[in-house]
Amino acid sequence: MTLNTALEHDFDELDADYVVAPETVTKRQPKLVPSALKAVALPGDGIGPEIMEATQRILVAGGARIDWTTCEAGASANAKGAASGLPGETLDEIAKAGLVLKGPLETGIGAGGKSANVTLRKHFELYANVRPARRLPGVITPYMDRNIDLVVVRENVEDLYAGIEHMQTPDVAQCLKLITRAGSTKIAEAAFALAKAEGRKRVTVASKANIMKLSEGLFKQACEDVAGKHPTIQSDHMIIDNLAHRLVMSPEDFDVICTTNMNGDIISDLTAGLVGGLGLAPSANLGARMAMFEAVHGSAPDIAGKGLANPTALLLAAIMMLRQGGKLAAAERIEQALYVTLEDGKDLTADMAGPRNEKAGSTSAFADRVISNLGQRSQHCPPAPKASLKLPKGKPQTTAVSAPTKRTDAGMDIFVEYGGSPTELAACLKAASAGLPFTLAMISNRGLKVYPGTVPMADFADHWRCRFASRAPQDDLPEQQMAELMARISKFARWCHVERLQMIDGTPGFSVAQGQ
Ligand code: NAI
Repeated sequence: MTLNTALEHDFDELDADYVVAPETVTKRQPKLVPSALKAVALPGDGIGPEIMEATQRILVAGGARIDWTTCEAGASANAKGAASGLPGETLDEIAKAGLVLKGPLETGIGAGGKSANVTLRKHFELYANVRPARRLPGVITPYMDRNIDLVVVRENVEDLYAGIEHMQTPDVAQCLKLITRAGSTKIAEAAFALAKAEGRKRVTVASKANIMKLSEGLFKQACEDVAGKHPTIQSDHMIIDNLAHRLVMSPEDFDVICTTNMNGDIISDLTAGLVGGLGLAPSANLGARMAMFEAVHGSAPDIAGKGLANPTALLLAAIMMLRQGGKLAAAERIEQALYVTLEDGKDLTADMAGPRNEKAGSTSAFADRVISNLGQRSQHCPPAPKASLKLPKGKPQTTAVSAPTKRTDAGMDIFVEYGGSPTELAACLKAASAGLPFTLAMISNRGLKVYPGTVPMADFADHWRCRFASRAPQDDLPEQQMAELMARISKFARWCHVERLQMIDGTPGFSVAQGQ
């Protein structure tokens, strides 16, 4: 028996592994079928169960063999007391399978527990969020004639999404933006690896390093260091707001975009909009040890349970998962059936049907239509790049990528709550530091210098950064004298937090104030 005669579908020869079909194992001519992937399904909240059911049905009909373990996550798990909506058993099953297809999980806005989505990404170090935006056949958008085929590679676990926030005063909130050299290097490596795997030509690094010179600046620098190791791929840098503008003006110019978490979150919704909207946008969350695939959209509570939801984004995410698992033939077969369905325009769900079809299809009618189109190929849309991105295997990284050679302390910033004027505050702070090895160097309010020099005509919050310079640079701040200064300050103002001002290899590891 040759492989080809035994295969269920002609182009299954693309697939990676084969096993004997269980039902034919005792027969004279056993049949070879692609081996099954093991994956966890998280149907999730809102429309999640509906689109998961439709997607799984299409996968089965399309010949994708997947051993599913279905687990609970999201609002229902939260209601039962699971922290962040993620029960321990769910996390265990995910760790075992290493592959997840996830429906949307609800997160309260402005209050409530931590996001299950963000927690999952961080728990499993799924540091690369890969969001392709390809023109889809038959989907009506202002850009439908443009040849859009780009991928946003978004850092997925750092930045403002560390979720470290503090109320500094009752009226001032702070969120820490944490960017690491290791995290930035990893995501840049992932972007260049993806460019190579998919035969792409260019990686555009996008940052806001002009304003956040240290945090976004570190990201930019790390990306440039990585770019230097990949001379066959072109690389450039764009300020993120200019990137947003250029994406709207000429999206076909872009290939791979590598950016930080917050920038990537926003820009990838923009790129989803270019090719038809969130209902059509898939994403992969990749790490060295596992991969999770999901639709970009949320749980759509407004249409949940009504059979109106569009399963396309989750289906495209499942197709990405098949490619990641080496099931290239099944991925291509299902993808082509989806393209044909979109081109034909029959039974499209209401969000896609638009003016061309007053009678929109339900979620299950759309799924039936895709299934009936299995085996057909689109005339206009070639398959997506076949190769999938495999990230380098590795242990969790606990140390910095590079240790600086020399560090000294130049002073400290003490942030205080104070209700008076900057001039009064400066006088009090100077008096408080008398006899101690610190000099009041600067006071700023919301980042704007208010001392020394002219007091600006700005509104002031009751939150002030008071910068004290060490009289002489030293290896470590004198802690007893620091404590003494803070005790003296506490007599007239309430301190909120303290930052060490470090010189790293002779370069200030802290920002200056606007106007300084
Ligand atoms: P959403 O994406 O759920 O809905 C926005 C709009 O798009 C709604 O009008 C909705 O009906 C529509 N829509 C979304 N997906 C659709 C689909 N497949 N078919 C047809 N229409 C669709 O965003 P929203 O309302 O801001 O968030 C709702 C909940 O989802 C929140 O709790 C949020 O935290 C969560 N969410 C979860 C995500 C995830 O699990 N990755 C991502 C985004 C939001």
